[in-house]
Amino acid sequence: MARAATVHVCSACGHESPRWLGQCPGCEAWGTITEERATRPTGGRGGGSASGPARGRSSSGVPAAVPTRLRDVTAPRVPRLRTGLVEVDRVLGGGLVPGSLVLLGGSPGIGKSTLLNTVLGHLQGAGSRTLYVSGEESAAQVRLRAERLAVPPSSGAAASGEGAPVGLASALDVPILAETDLPTVIATIEAERPDVCVIDSVQTMHDPDLNGAPGSVSQVREVAGRLMEVAKRLDVATVLVGHVTKEGALAGPRVLEHLVDCVLQFEGERERTYRTLRASKNRFGSTNEAGVFEMRGAGLVEVLDPSARFVGEATRAAGSVILCAMEGTRPLLVEVQALVSPSELVPPRRVCNGIDRNRLALVLAVLSRHAGLSTSTHDVFVNVVGGVRCDEPGADLAVALAVASAARGIVPTVPGAAPDAGDGDGSDDLPVACFGEVGLTGELRGVAHADRRLSEARKFGLRGVIQPERQPTLRDALRSALPRRG
Ligand code: TYD
Ligand code: MG
Repeated sequence: MARAATVHVCSACGHESPRWLGQCPGCEAWGTITEERATRPTGGRGGGSASGPARGRSSSGVPAAVPTRLRDVTAPRVPRLRTGLVEVDRVLGGGLVPGSLVLLGGSPGIGKSTLLNTVLGHLQGAGSRTLYVSGEESAAQVRLRAERLAVPPSSGAAASGEGAPVGLASALDVPILAETDLPTVIATIEAERPDVCVIDSVQTMHDPDLNGAPGSVSQVREVAGRLMEVAKRLDVATVLVGHVTKEGALAGPRVLEHLVDCVLQFEGERERTYRTLRASKNRFGSTNEAGVFEMRGAGLVEVLDPSARFVGEATRAAGSVILCAMEGTRPLLVEVQALVSPSELVPPRRVCNGIDRNRLALVLAVLSRHAGLSTSTHDVFVNVVGGVRCDEPGADLAVALAVASAARGIVPTVPGAAPDAGDGDGSDDLPVACFGEVGLTGELRGVAHADRRLSEARKFGLRGVIQPERQPTLRDALRSALPRRG
């Protein structure tokens, strides 16, 4: 009976199969199946029952439980823990819920540790008990970061507007445990009883009782399961940091996403300073909200009015338009840029940042078929400035206008205003704003929250917004924004 059984587990979704496969039948990802020793965790420690019914235990002798009518369930209103960052609180749905488990994903270097250190510093300063468990960095490294957060900003940084950082002295008061051994971590949580605990990262935690390297599917699943058990039992709001794959999905088993109460993604381009935080799952709030941050020398700063930043920084040139986007319930003006240049490749390159590749393909096809603008021999690059992601169909029109403007070398002009000279000369007028979905027959389709998008544009003095209600087709929109000279 003592056969060392192995299973083949998909590192993306946790699907198990008895033999190796090139493609995972569970999530259809390629090359994600890895061989692991089959683990049957001992039920001894009371936790880790993430996978349903009791394993291998006989059901006889177990007393039945009595279900309660929902009406009779007592649900005391527990106050949420304010993180001290308005943007984080909004994304969480009003603050951290005590005893909840939050998964924070994001690519390396994006600022997860910085964000959590800031949050813990605020909470510690406000009188909550916190604990920072670092499995990735030494205590000294974490201290160095906290020191940067604690330094009051130079006058230059403070002068540049809202949300400027104030030296977060309490960042240095956060207790740290540099540890990767899970039993030690759990014992420390039990002894310290923090209100909020950060595990940075869940992939580095390791339980010697289990087979498999740290970060393997079975380890991650079990580690998260045990931490959840402790979080619920002791009412510790726990934030797990999770790695993401190259494609940006949370690494490790999808099981994690099912287990936790809230999944947050911290996104942005590493080289750029803007970061957005959004929830892709939230049991205690909406998943529509997003918070915008900027990485500065003295830590992450909330950008409370991102539209003002993005409009102010927008270029007035061919290939650039302003998109009236929605970040959850909040309208956001962002600049969309395109470059169209002759290609030496077949098929030509399609590179996009911040929008969906398939939507770019759709917009290019509609431009070619219904607006007489073919890009089949050109490379097309599209970028949403500031590292913002616009995954809504409402971004189509901005992509179409930016591409058409770049292809024709015409600076978009506000309908009714005198056309621009095309060389960026008339730069004192305001950029053109737009929104709308591009339909397959070349029509423009309405999108949600048109009124909010329009009023946000108006707030910044952007008039003559190109939108489906005024320009029913893509052709109309192009004619309005890119009038041919002469
Ligand atoms: P970090 O929070 O360690 O990222 P993650 O935990 O997601 O891997 O920090 C990421 C980057 O942020 C790092 O390259 C340095 C930079 N940074 C600043 O620019 N200013 C700061 O005050 C801090 C703490 C970091
Ligand atoms: Mg980190």
